[in-house]
Amino acid sequence: MSGTLRLEGMTVSRGAGPVVRDVTIDIPPGKVTALLGPNGAGKSSLVLAVGGVLPSKGKVLADGVDLHGKRPERIRAAGVAIVPEGRRMLRGLTVADNLEVACYALSREDARAGRAHALELFPELEKRLDALAGSLSGGEQQMLVLAQALVSRPKWLLVDELSLGLAPVVVKRLVPTLRTVAESGVGVLLIEQFAHVALGVAEDAYVMDRGRIHFSGAASELREHPELLHSSYLQAGNAA
Ligand SMILES: Nc1ncnc2c1ncn2[C@@H]1O[C@H](COP(=O)(O)OP(=O)(O)O)[C@@H](O)[C@H]1O
Ligand SMILES: [Mg+2]
Repeated sequence: MSGTLRLEGMTVSRGAGPVVRDVTIDIPPGKVTALLGPNGAGKSSLVLAVGGVLPSKGKVLADGVDLHGKRPERIRAAGVAIVPEGRRMLRGLTVADNLEVACYALSREDARAGRAHALELFPELEKRLDALAGSLSGGEQQMLVLAQALVSRPKWLLVDELSLGLAPVVVKRLVPTLRTVAESGVGVLLIEQFAHVALGVAEDAYVMDRGRIHFSGAASELREHPELLHSSYLQAGNAA
């Protein structure tokens, strides 16, 4: 489909051997796609490889253009924004400065528009602009890293473990915003260890275990047939 980010035949090796094996995933525009799988499945390794920070084999086709092997800045400039696991930010800097840093590659005009767009999605951050990022709550930190990814108006947004460590009420606040982002035409990949959160918002879903895709199809199929998730450690419905 036009505007799709297609990860094709991705293999990622770490340490002893491959932790992602021949994985193909489509992230179409305007939709939320869920990537589910237990701890250690290879989800984070896959996104790090897509972002150009882990070596891999395969293709990263951004609307047909292969970004595989390109530098992280080039991948980001092509419209692929990644929010890695762990809510990484400059904790000793203010929220405003963290947003500024995220705008480094943008023109002044794009930076202003991108920042306004991000703050519209997360008005909570507007009040915290002068606060040190390290003093934010977990939910506010997740908003900040999402805002940082969104200032460049990406075509695709890959979010690794949105809900990890956050209270259910905070997750409930964040998930509809991802839907809003998708509805604006962005292709969203929501990576979650806990199936429940992602299946509530996704149209398409993939289940990954031990480096391989074991299911791909409609998220509704997994909602209606949770046994398809079959790995008990996916803890469907057990979190948030
Ligand atoms: N820094 C690392 N060095 C070597 N192996 C790693 C490293 N990080 C993760 N791994 C291994 O890669 C595999 C996949 O991990 P990861 O991509 O983090 O999975 P997930 O995000 O699905 O939990 C696991 O077997 C894990 O032990
Ligand atoms: Mg992970």
